[in-house]
Amino acid sequence: MRILSGIQPSGKLHVGNYLGMMKPMIENMGRGELFAFVVNLHALTSVQNREQLANDTLEAAADFMALGLDPDQAVFWVQSDVPEVTELMWYLSSLTPMGLLERCHSYKDKVAKGILSSHGLFSYPVLMAADILLFQAEVVPVGKDQKQHLEVARDIAIKFNNAFGETFVLPEPQISADLATVPGTDGAKMSKSYGNTIGIFQTAKQLKKNVMAIVTDAAAIEDIKDPEKCNLFNIFKIFAPPERTEAVRDQYLNGGAGYGYVKLELVEILWEYFREAREKREELVADQGYLREVLAKGAEKARGHAVKTIDLVRDRMGMKY
Ligand code: ADP
Ligand code: TRP
Repeated sequence: MRILSGIQPSGKLHVGNYLGMMKPMIENMGRGELFAFVVNLHALTSVQNREQLANDTLEAAADFMALGLDPDQAVFWVQSDVPEVTELMWYLSSLTPMGLLERCHSYKDKVAKGILSSHGLFSYPVLMAADILLFQAEVVPVGKDQKQHLEVARDIAIKFNNAFGETFVLPEPQISADLATVPGTDGAKMSKSYGNTIGIFQTAKQLKKNVMAIVTDAAAIEDIKDPEKCNLFNIFKIFAPPERTEAVRDQYLNGGAGYGYVKLELVEILWEYFREAREKREELVADQGYLREVLAKGAEKARGHAVKTIDLVRDRMGMKY
C-alpha cells in the first residue's frame, strides 16, 4: 500500500496539524510505502518572502523528522525538488472543469480570509492532485478540511483514465474519525489563520499563554459542568492519560473542576508530550547540512518514481511524436 501526504511550510506547526496529518503519517510507517513531503509550491500561494519560505521549508522538514518520521523508512522530499509535478499539473489542468474548482470551499475560505485570489490559489487542488497521482498514492492521510481536495484528485484521475486509458490509481483519504477536526482555543477548528492555535515547538512561556487563552464559560469551581461541551476538556482529553481524563470528567460532572487548574495541568501534559520531539528538533535545526542531505537523497528517490509516471502520461497524451 502506498501512503502519501504533504505539509505546507507556512508557519509554526500546531497540535491540529500534528494530530490531523503528521501523527497518522508517522503511525503508518512500516504499514506500507510512505511518501511524505513539504509542499513549498503550494505555500507560494500565501508566503511570498524568499527568506521566510526557504527557512520554513527546512523547519517543516525538521518538524516532521523530530516527531518521528524516519527518512530511511519513507521517501521524504521537498515538493519543488521534483519538477515533474508541475508538468503533470498542466496536463491535469487541461482536463479539469472550472466548475470542479469553483465548488472548492478551501479557495473560497482563503479568499474570505484575505489571501490574494490568484490563479495559483484557484488551481491549488490541481497541483495537489498532481502530487498524489504522480506517485500513484493509494491512501492519503489528511485532516477533514482536505477531504474535498481528495475528491477533486479522484475526479481528475477518473477523467484522465476515461480519456486516455487506465493510468492513475484512485486515491482514498484517510481521516481518523475522532481527530478529524481538532478544536482551537476558541472552539472553532484550530487553524493558523484563525489565531487560535496551540503550537508544538515553542517556549514554555508561549505554550502557557496559548493554553491560558482557551475560552471557557464563567462557571465556578463547584458548579456541575458538561465536559463534552467544554472546549478545554475536549483538548485536555486528547493529550491526558486516560486516568486523568476520567478523574477530570468526574470533577466536571460532580462539581470541583476549576478551569485554571485544568489549564495548568494541560500545560504540563503538553510540555512533556512533546519533550522528546522538541529536543530532537533542536538538534536537527542546528545541523542544516544533514537536513539538506536527507532531503536531497529523498528528492532523488521521489524523482525515480515521478519520472516513470510522467513518461507514461506524456505517451498517453500524445507528447511523444
Ligand atoms: P492551517 O489550517 O493551520 O492553515 P493547514 O491547512 O496547513 O493548517 O493543514 C495542514 C494539515 O493539518 C492538513 O492535513 C490539515 O487537514 C491538518 N489540520 C490542520 N488543522 C487541523 C485541525 N484543527 N484538526 C485536524 N487536522 C488539521
Ligand atoms: N493541501 C494540503 C494542506 O493544505 C497540503 C497538500 C499538498 C497535500 N499536496 C498534498 C496533502 C498531497 C496530501 C497530499 O494541508
